[in-house]
Amino acid sequence: MEFDGGNPLRIQHFLKVWGFARQIGKMEGLDLKMQEILETAAIVHDIGIKVSLEKYGDCGGRHQEAEGPPLAEEMLERLGYDLSLVERVSWLVGHHHTYNHVEELDHRILLEADFLVNSYESRESMEAIQAFMRNVFRTPSGIRLLKLQWGLES
Ligand SMILES: [Fe+2]
Repeated sequence: MEFDGGNPLRIQHFLKVWGFARQIGKMEGLDLKMQEILETAAIVHDIGIKVSLEKYGDCGGRHQEAEGPPLAEEMLERLGYDLSLVERVSWLVGHHHTYNHVEELDHRILLEADFLVNSYESRESMEAIQAFMRNVFRTPSGIRLLKLQWGLES
């Protein structure tokens, strides 16, 4: 919140993504290490937006993915997180707009949690939500929460 001070939209965004990521991670039974990585990544995933806006005047996914990782690394190292967590969280920050070749659950769940929030904040159409669910959602828990949120048949 210090990093995004004065920007309630971004603060509310990452807190909601964290909540969904935490919930999906627990429902999917992640081990403690991956759960911590996922939750930490959810909190800092959009850390590159501010610099992207300053440097390029936009916060497109590619700019964010380039600008975010070093900022996440700096913050998490300063806060005393161990190196393996910092490395993985940084990688996730750099791939949170990458939807192909998703291999690990922490990455998959981060994409799902972000969309649970973005689909509401961006007022996506039902068609877009259904398409995203088909194309990106894979965990049973993420699919369940998205269907519950939007009142879709399960
Ligand atoms: Fe996000």
